[in-house]
Amino acid sequence: MAKQVQKKPVLVLENVSKFFTQRDRQKLLVLDNLNLSLYPGEVVALVGKSGSGKSTLLRIMSGLIKPNNGRVLWHDEDVASPFKGLSMVFQDFALLPWLTVLQNVELGLEALGVDRKERREKALEAIDMVGMDGFESAYPKELSGGMCQRVGLARALVVDPEIMLMDEPFSALDVLTTDNLRSDLLSLWQGKKTNLKNILIVTHNIEEAVLLADRILIFSSNPGAIRAEVKVNLDHPRADNEVGVHEVMDEIYHQLSLLHDPHKIAGVRYKNIGLHYRLPKVEISELSGLIETLDSSEYARKADLADLAEDLHLDIDDLFPLTDALEIFRFAYIQDGALFLTDLGNRFACAEILEKKEIFAKQLLNHVPLARHIRRVLDDRYNQCATEDRFLSELQDSLTESAADEVLKVCIDWGRFAEIFAYSVNSGILSLEDPN
Ligand SMILES: Nc1ncnc2c1ncn2[C@@H]1O[C@H](COP(=O)(O)OP(=O)(O)OP(=O)(O)O)[C@@H](O)[C@H]1O
Ligand SMILES: [Mg+2]
Repeated sequence: MAKQVQKKPVLVLENVSKFFTQRDRQKLLVLDNLNLSLYPGEVVALVGKSGSGKSTLLRIMSGLIKPNNGRVLWHDEDVASPFKGLSMVFQDFALLPWLTVLQNVELGLEALGVDRKERREKALEAIDMVGMDGFESAYPKELSGGMCQRVGLARALVVDPEIMLMDEPFSALDVLTTDNLRSDLLSLWQGKKTNLKNILIVTHNIEEAVLLADRILIFSSNPGAIRAEVKVNLDHPRADNEVGVHEVMDEIYHQLSLLHDPHKIAGVRYKNIGLHYRLPKVEISELSGLIETLDSSEYARKADLADLAEDLHLDIDDLFPLTDALEIFRFAYIQDGALFLTDLGNRFACAEILEKKEIFAKQLLNHVPLARHIRRVLDDRYNQCATEDRFLSELQDSLTESAADEVLKVCIDWGRFAEIFAYSVNSGILSLEDPN
């Protein structure tokens, strides 16, 4: 059950934008005009692709970094630096290895100027709360990942925060440890031992978001913005096999699939991409594997995205690049939160390797403008060679240096598989002749 949600927000972000200046001096807009209010009594989850700016958003909320535009308000006051009342839990636990559990937990209080006696009392209390009593004098290296994160949690709770921001707190832990920590977190939240009024948790795990949160925010990338919100009106404890949980998960996958389809025109099944499109980082073997899975009798050419992610243990950073590639190549399309294999996808699944390559080459040349462009340039050159730098500098007109590198690398991998051009890693030369 959600705690009683009150009307007045605790923390407000108003028109927040943030950019970073990169090594090549280009500006990378990470957050674009973002508005968000967190109300007391709610657990909010934030899901979005890797690199979409979630951690940046948390750092801005906590006053660790400043936005370039807009403002952050904590109980109506502008936030200019880290403040009491908010604490963070990090994915990598961020414990200091040379300090004991007790000293690590006390650290947060030292910064607040709390005297020694009180520090000790409060730290022991927090350690007790997370079930780590008995380990006060242990060093982090003696502890398992789950225990380290319990210490991370104690260190966040010791300052008696109103709001706790958790940045993928369980993603470094195994499934059982995560289940265990998650239910302890819920007990802490629902119990009376803390003054927590609000939890914001960033997660890649959709199921986790649905099991914990009252409200799930779906974050888009390039630049990061909140694109959709899904409310979860289910009582706790929630079980992963509950129908209601599955329905909300379906809705989130549906929203995420819409988000990954900016190039799709309503009513048109496939996406048409431009020369500078951020090609998804997908290996041919993964793509073929997914096509064959969809074609198998288990799925019969149609898979619910939520089921597929669960069955294949794919998180959103694995799943959506794959569906993106499938749609670009017309091997499958997404409709209403499900992935459908096309006739061409079915032909690809059944084909021998040489025919697979032929189908792939045809789709690559027809639907990936960058591959077509590379092939044309090579065809036009008298020696049928070009350096990769030639294409990189072209891509850098509208992509950052690292994005251009990544896009070209993906395109080269695909082009080599399709045998529409060859590439020598040593010389960085693309050609129509196989260098070997
Ligand atoms: N200090 C910095 N200087 C330059 N670029 C940065 C800096 N911090 C983050 N970025 C860039 O901003 C973007 C967003 O990063 P951020 O860590 O907020 O993403 P995220 O959504 O938390 O990703 P993940 O899910 O992988 O943790 C990334 O492209 C990252 O490379
Ligand atoms: Mg992050």
